[in-house]
Amino acid sequence: MKDFSEIKEQVKAKLAEVADSEKLSDFWQTYLGKTGVISGLMKEMKSVPPEEKPLFGKAVNDVREWAQELYRTKQAEIKEFELKHRYEREAVDVTMPAAGSTQGNLHPITLIKQEMIEVFAGMGFEIFEGPEIEDDDHNFTRLNVLKDHPSRDMQDTFWLTDDLLLRTHTSPGQIRTMDMKKPPIKVLVPGKVFRSDSDATHSPMFSQLEGLVVDKGITLCDLQGMLDSFVQSIFSDTAKTRLRPSYFPFTEPSVEVDVSCFECGGKGCPLCKGTGWIEVLGGGVVNKKVLENCDIDPEEYSGLAFGIGIERIAMLKYGISHMGMLFENNLDFLSQFKA
Ligand code: DAH
Repeated sequence: MKDFSEIKEQVKAKLAEVADSEKLSDFWQTYLGKTGVISGLMKEMKSVPPEEKPLFGKAVNDVREWAQELYRTKQAEIKEFELKHRYEREAVDVTMPAAGSTQGNLHPITLIKQEMIEVFAGMGFEIFEGPEIEDDDHNFTRLNVLKDHPSRDMQDTFWLTDDLLLRTHTSPGQIRTMDMKKPPIKVLVPGKVFRSDSDATHSPMFSQLEGLVVDKGITLCDLQGMLDSFVQSIFSDTAKTRLRPSYFPFTEPSVEVDVSCFECGGKGCPLCKGTGWIEVLGGGVVNKKVLENCDIDPEEYSGLAFGIGIERIAMLKYGISHMGMLFENNLDFLSQFKA
C-alpha cells in the first residue's frame, strides 16, 4: 500500500517556504483545494483493485488530514506573526506632542474695508453693492463720461463686448442707487473694480468705496466735513490731508484728496513719486447732468460723491510699500494682521 511519502515530503517542503497568508492560500489551492494534488489522488482509485479500495481511500484521507493539520498549525503561526507586525506598524505614540493648529485671520483688505464702512455707517450711510460686469451706460455715459470724450481714457477699460465691461470704478453704483430710490440718499458702494494698469501702487483688480449723498442743500462743505472725520478715524491725527481742485466728469466742482506719504514722511520717495503725497480719493459735488440722467431735479436737490481706493488706505494704515503684497497671499505677510 502506498504511503504517499513523496507527496508528504513535497507538502512539508512547500509549507516550510510559506511566510505569509497569501502564499498560504496558494498552498491550500495547490494541495488541499478541490482541484489540488491530494484530491487528485482519489482519481487513482479507478486503477485500484476492488478489495483494496477501502484501504486506499483511508490512506488518501489520512494524508489529507495530516496535511490539513500542518496547514492549520502554519496558519496560526502566520496569523500571529502578521498581527504582531500590524500592531507594530500601526502603533501610536500617545506621548508625542500634537501637531500645532493654526488659526486664520481676516485679510487686511477685509479689515480696512470693514473699518471704513463702520466709520461711514456711523454717519448714517447705507450699503449697496452693484454688479462687477457693467454696461457702458452705467459705467460711463450716464456718469457724464461721454463717448469720444478724452476722459474715457482716464481709466483703461477691460471691455467684454462692445457694450459690456468690467466696471472701472464703483461710481456706476451711484446711478443704480438713484434709479432705485429718490432723495434723500446716503449710500456707500464697496466693491472690486478693474483696470488695465499695474505698478507699485496699481493693480488690475482693486477695491473702492464709493459714497453718494443726495439731498436738499448738500454742498462741498459737507463732503469736506465727512472726509475730515473719515481721515481722523482711520489714521488718527498723524496723517495730513490735502484737497486739490481736480476734474471728474461726474462731479462739478471736483477735488482730489491726498494723504501725506507714510514711507518717507513727506520728504519724497519712489512710492509717492517724490511728491510727499499720495492720492487716496476723488470726490466732489455731483454734476447736475448726472442728477438729470437719473431724473432728479438739480434745482431741488444737490449731491456729493467720493470714491476711495481701499488698498491705498490699507497701504497707508499698515505701512505696506508694494500693492502686490495685498494680492499674493503670502501667509507670513497675512498672519501679521491677526487681531
Ligand atoms: N470714480 C473715480 C475713479 O475711480 C473716483 C471718484 C472721483 C469717485 C470722484 C467719485 C467722485 O464718486 O465724485 O477714479
